[in-house]
Amino acid sequence: MALIAPSLLSSNFLNLQAECKMLNESAADWYHLDVMDGRFVPNISFGPMLVEFFRKATNKVCDVHLMIEEPGNYAEAFKKAGADNLTVHIEACPHLHRNIQQIKSLGMKAGVAINPHTPVVALQDILADIDLVCMMSVNPGFGGQSFIPHTIQKIKQLREMIDEQLLKVKIEVDGGVTLENAKSIIEAGADVLVAGNTVFKSDNPMATIAALKSL
Ligand code: DX5
Ligand code: ZN
Repeated sequence: MALIAPSLLSSNFLNLQAECKMLNESAADWYHLDVMDGRFVPNISFGPMLVEFFRKATNKVCDVHLMIEEPGNYAEAFKKAGADNLTVHIEACPHLHRNIQQIKSLGMKAGVAINPHTPVVALQDILADIDLVCMMSVNPGFGGQSFIPHTIQKIKQLREMIDEQLLKVKIEVDGGVTLENAKSIIEAGADVLVAGNTVFKSDNPMATIAALKSL
């Protein structure tokens, strides 16, 4: 059974109070919050201010996915906003180890996200220092894209690396997760499923979350 992390990016921003209420009453485990800067990714979403509102609206884990350049400049702001997990992109961090140390010293769980073209082996020398890998199964920037099938191989490879070293790092899969492909993603070794459109564009989001959770 995987943890379910609905991505609020696909929610109705004119009705966030109701969306949060639904999530709080649902089987969802985490709020997945996608921060985009229009530089690292070709889209702009929201920043610490909105994360703070989500923090106040829920007791669930606030899982913040930073798709931004120079994330070190903002780690403290996201801590203050109430982030529990802070994930940075390997492709945006020439001094990744320093970013991870900073996140942990601020008292958050540290995650590293990798884009579809980034090989899993790039995580080799940081894996023991982190809590979470966010494996992108689409190119980051937008919700509602199709799952890239090659990701399944990457999840299996990462699962082996983690298990070989007896680590507790969680594998989170982000992008294009559906009720149809979720089972194969879990079987490949995922611990956390992010789901945006699959949840929020469905007729019954709460039932969809329960269905993902029951796989
Ligand atoms: C993509 C984001 C994802 C996205 C997932 O850049 O990181 O979290 O919102 O949305 P779906 O599930 O619709 O692909
Ligand atoms: Zn994300």
